[in-house]
Amino acid sequence: MDVLWDPDRYDALPLPHEKWGVGVVNKLALLGDETLVDAGCGSGRDAALALGQLPRGHITGLDASPTMLAAFERRFADSAQVAALAADLMEPWPVASASVDAVMSVAAFHWLPQPDRAWTQVSRVLRPGGRVVLDAGGFLNIERLLAAVDAVGAADKLPAWHYAGVDETVGYLDAAGLTPVEVRLRSAPAHFNTDAVYLSYLKDVVLHHLTDEQRVEVAAIMADRCVDYVRLEVFAMKPV
Ligand SMILES: C[S@@+](CC[C@H](N)C(=O)[O-])C[C@H]1O[C@@H](n2cnc3c(N)ncnc32)[C@H](O)[C@@H]1O
Repeated sequence: MDVLWDPDRYDALPLPHEKWGVGVVNKLALLGDETLVDAGCGSGRDAALALGQLPRGHITGLDASPTMLAAFERRFADSAQVAALAADLMEPWPVASASVDAVMSVAAFHWLPQPDRAWTQVSRVLRPGGRVVLDAGGFLNIERLLAAVDAVGAADKLPAWHYAGVDETVGYLDAAGLTPVEVRLRSAPAHFNTDAVYLSYLKDVVLHHLTDEQRVEVAAIMADRCVDYVRLEVFAMKPV
């Protein structure tokens, strides 16, 4: 189910994704001259953060959404250090093998029905000794929200999200030839301050295909405006 992302509305929202991105970039512990791939880069908020720590580095953003990629390109129009490439993360990435020092990904891998295919690409593009830091929706992510969508009869309007757990992900890493350093699930409930922001979040971030009426019904069920996020956090290395 294709999603038409609106990067301006996405960027205008106060999203927990921003904090997740800060966590991922901090964990990368960039030295300043690395070559970095941002897998599922969206409009480039996390890449901008990483670029601030890469005075001599390069970033390639990969994404399948033309609107997100266009926003990414606009954001970095003046930077020779950053490039955007169209890519389905489950297909071979347009990046040379063993060519990058690090891969990061924020809130993207749970959009992949077959994440193992993307992990294979992470491993292929990393140089020996390279690292990957990832945040994504994890096992039992947004269960309450999904139950509310089901209650309004709109479950068939959800994308095929896949919320992988720890053992499953360690299996993907092993199969791809990556060494898990840290793989964990973290409960990360997010609260939205007003009904207007909450409804906008539902429309532009998670429930794109529902009608306005259905989103209002979902919001009424989730009256505390709290979204029960569970994050899958991964740090892994490509063996030397
Ligand atoms: C919630 S957004 C996250 C964007 C950005 N990383 C952030 O944290 O703001 C999910 C992103 O994953 C991208 N995406 C989803 N499925 C994809 C796929 N199969 N291949 C490439 N990108 C994909 C979407 O286009 C979107 O930009």
